[in-house]
Amino acid sequence: MQFEIFTSSPARITVDCLVVGVHDNGELSAAAASIDRQCNGALGRFLKRGDFPGRLAETLLLPAFPRLKATRLLLVGQGGKEVSRRSWRRALAAAVGALSRTKVASAAIALTRPEPRALDDYLFGRSAAETAHGALYRVNDLKSGTKAAAPALSRLVFGPVRPSGAAAARRGLVHGQASGQGARMMRDLANLPGNVCTPSYLAEQSTALAARYPSIRVRVLEEAEIRAEKMGCFLAVTQGSDQPPKFIVIEYKASRGPRAPIVLVGKGITFDTGGISLKDPGAMDEMKFDMSGAAAVIATMSVVAELGLPLNVVGLVPTCENMPSGRAIKPGDIVTSAAGVTVEILNTDAEGRLILCDALHYARRFKPQAVVDLATLTGACVIALGMHHTGVMANDDALARELVESGLRADDRAWQLPLTEEYGEQLKSNFADLANIAGRDGGAITAGAFLGRFTKGLRWAHMDIAGSAYVGGGAKGSTGRPVALLTDFLLRRAASRR
Ligand code: BES
Ligand code: MN
Ligand code: ZN
Repeated sequence: MQFEIFTSSPARITVDCLVVGVHDNGELSAAAASIDRQCNGALGRFLKRGDFPGRLAETLLLPAFPRLKATRLLLVGQGGKEVSRRSWRRALAAAVGALSRTKVASAAIALTRPEPRALDDYLFGRSAAETAHGALYRVNDLKSGTKAAAPALSRLVFGPVRPSGAAAARRGLVHGQASGQGARMMRDLANLPGNVCTPSYLAEQSTALAARYPSIRVRVLEEAEIRAEKMGCFLAVTQGSDQPPKFIVIEYKASRGPRAPIVLVGKGITFDTGGISLKDPGAMDEMKFDMSGAAAVIATMSVVAELGLPLNVVGLVPTCENMPSGRAIKPGDIVTSAAGVTVEILNTDAEGRLILCDALHYARRFKPQAVVDLATLTGACVIALGMHHTGVMANDDALARELVESGLRADDRAWQLPLTEEYGEQLKSNFADLANIAGRDGGAITAGAFLGRFTKGLRWAHMDIAGSAYVGGGAKGSTGRPVALLTDFLLRRAASRR
């Protein structure tokens, strides 16, 4: 998909389709008014008839109006004249979705923009590209019928942007292009079923990144090497599975910028049955999404390489299945983590923290400037925040704030939960240093506190994406979150050159 910016009247651009915002009661947007002048008021006269009242995200495809070069006109409802980021994104997504169901190959999109304080030219470009990618995404289903033809759409021109803001908007498009493609990559990985997207598959996909980008190196630790690293908690989770575990190390090296890397750690449980503490059958199929953290890390590494950010980044992905079997761990088993801490596994379904604690310990060797882990870690986080915010917990409030602010800029929001000492005290075990569960109360935070025991001395944040990474129910699927948030975070770190 090619993205561009327009700075003059949209009517002058050579495209198949002009896309125009219409407000409540058929009122023209500013850009629409300029198109209306070009076609001698034909658009205004059409809207006066009241056939298209301009309700948010409604669309209507019309044949060409007189004196317009484009062969079609797409009207897009934008609702009231006060355009928020959210309503603008919804209208834009509806427009791109509607275009993708036609034979239109190129379009100029002239919607009313949120005011610059809410969305400056740079973020306008970035959000437009990200939103377009999101709207064009099609689930990589395995249905046997004939596939719908790929959309003809290949070129989108966004505006209006004042000439003085064009450079910033174009920079935004480049960043949004990469981050939008990253979100699609994450969604493709996470949507695949557990019998296809195995730990070996994630290792192959990571290795493919190294083939595509010379700046990326990938190393995959096999079970023997995982054992040599003494990752007893990770090995405990995988021991009931017939799929070999993998510990994937993805290193992006920049030619310039600070040496100390940012380490991203992603939970890669390719299927979570709960193990011997077996889950209810209800929505168990959704536990194929339990590798969303891993998918986010792999996809974000591709964004970083695509943009060539001046920043070293390491992606760590411990990946395995959580299965019941004669060889599986049992409640009460005690294992020793790579850090030497003994853990009593009171619930085999609290497996994410077990594979992450060994990966977080591994992160130390990189002497990182910051470590961020991403995990569909707890149902409790979904209860606390729903799907709208990712949960952030950290041993460094500045880092947590950075992530929350990146979420705001990227419209991929996150909310900090308090990770104070008391929560950690709930993880007491009679028989080992630590138990892997602490009762129902504050379940998202006690999980964070468990990880916190392994990150002393590191600047670390944990992001619980159990609610935000995918949607359940009818339109089940990965959302691609929080790739946009992480992209913003890394872009900012790269720009600040600490
Ligand atoms: N993968 C789940 C968390 C999860 C639950 C993600 C629902 C998305 C939706 C995790 O491994 C898990 O099972 N957590 C347990 C922890 C409990 C046993 C302390 C949970 O949340 O129930
Ligand atoms: Mn589990
Ligand atoms: Zn899990």
